[in-house]
Amino acid sequence: MKLSVTFGAAEKKSTDIIIISLFENIKKIPSDLNALDKASGKAISSLLQNGDFNGKLNETILIPTDKKIAPKRVLLVGLGKSTAFSLDKARQAAGTATRVIQEKKYKNPSLLLYGTENKEISLEDVTRSVVEGILLSLYTFTMYKTLKKEEKTDITNYSLIVQKKDDLENVKSAVQKSQIEAEAVCFSRDIVNMAGSDATPTFLANKAKEIAKKTGVKCKVLSIPEMKKLGMNGILNVSRGSSEPPKFIILEYNSKKNTNDTIVLVGKGVTFDSGGISLKPGAGMDLMKADMSGAAAVLGTFKAISDLKPSSHIVGLIPCTENMPGGRALKPGDIIKYMSGKTVEILNTDAEGRLILADAISYAKKYKPDAMIDIATLTGACVAALGTFASGMLGNNEELKDRVKQSGENCHERVWELPLWEEYNDLIKSNIADIKNTGGKYAGTITAACFLAEFVEDFPWVHLDIAGTFLVEKDTPYIRKGATGVGVRLLTHLVMNWKKMTDASKKK
Ligand code: BES
Ligand code: MG
Ligand code: ZN
Repeated sequence: MKLSVTFGAAEKKSTDIIIISLFENIKKIPSDLNALDKASGKAISSLLQNGDFNGKLNETILIPTDKKIAPKRVLLVGLGKSTAFSLDKARQAAGTATRVIQEKKYKNPSLLLYGTENKEISLEDVTRSVVEGILLSLYTFTMYKTLKKEEKTDITNYSLIVQKKDDLENVKSAVQKSQIEAEAVCFSRDIVNMAGSDATPTFLANKAKEIAKKTGVKCKVLSIPEMKKLGMNGILNVSRGSSEPPKFIILEYNSKKNTNDTIVLVGKGVTFDSGGISLKPGAGMDLMKADMSGAAAVLGTFKAISDLKPSSHIVGLIPCTENMPGGRALKPGDIIKYMSGKTVEILNTDAEGRLILADAISYAKKYKPDAMIDIATLTGACVAALGTFASGMLGNNEELKDRVKQSGENCHERVWELPLWEEYNDLIKSNIADIKNTGGKYAGTITAACFLAEFVEDFPWVHLDIAGTFLVEKDTPYIRKGATGVGVRLLTHLVMNWKKMTDASKKK
């Protein structure tokens, strides 16, 4: 599918269908639609007057134009109340309209881009959200379907229409950027949706190497002997029960003599989490093929930045392993000694994510990070606490938390903070080792983060728990049932706006 940007009068555009986005309960149609409305014999304004279309968010109505205007049909889509407008409403409406078009099998749709009264929301912002809504809503996972054709989109050319010629260049560049981002999200969704036996640690390592073919990105994959040398005893122990070899992926963007900030991104890459000897119950265990969603988010982010070229030095650390109950598997009661010297008592082998993240966090020190963000499907407790609309955020630095929060809001991958007060540390004290890998019945997300904090020294760090957000159970306007690709847009936005946010904080 080609996405193009054109300038011109909507009513003169030859297209299968033109999408017009309207706010809720408007009395008069916006003046920039007058010509289209008039030429179509007041098709739009009479619908509004009769109350047949109210503009509620995601409401749609299809109007034939009887050859009165060049577009064969008009699709009205509601944006909801103008006072409650947000970029996510634009994303949703574009996604909803696109799905209608896809179902009807129209090949050449157009969408009229629109401005808003909110001065803080620019036309580029709207464009970005619209493009995301279009491309993300069209995503389907067809890898294992034999009838791929039925799932494919029929849309060949999707054009976005700008109403002022002066806006053309800015809009084109916004389209290009969001296209790169959306493709990275779909890449991430694909590898999360794949079967655990296909998306193995070795497979993820090969994906990372593919990404590193782009200039500016380097990739190194550590295998068992190198991990042994470094003392990466978390991942080595977790992988013991599996016959798949573990891999520790290191991606580095912009490494050469870079004086800009260094940002380290760490992603949990458990390609299947059976729980290990502390075996999980059977129901729902299939979902644990997606326990590498953090890894997929970091890989997707690297895919995006390899094209978008931010100025910072960015390092990706991705420990990848299966967690299986083999004959040589890690056992409850075992003790792991980490590279920092810290000892950990294993009480539950299903709390494996923190064990492998600890290696990556310790390894990150060699880069002297200005910021480190780890992202992981870490605890069921996070789903209990926040449900599916927010990822859990914990960290040791107010400014970094603020940046992550802002980025999450901008792309609607929202995060919500949980406390990391020192009292919680008592919960992971062990009788026989320094700490233990579970914190008991309560505050599971917090005690998991306390565990990670033990390995973070004093550099700014944020932990994101995406156990509730890596997947949706039913279709939403721009995410279909299955992997969401959460984290890719948030992290990409964060690194792309890093310098801007630094400058803004200096002014404060
Ligand atoms: N991968 C799971 C967490 C998870 C649960 C992710 C549900 C996505 C959806 C993690 O490895 C795990 O098993 N955590 C345990 C920790 C417990 C044993 C302390 C959990 O949350 O039950
Ligand atoms: Mg587990
Ligand atoms: Zn896990």
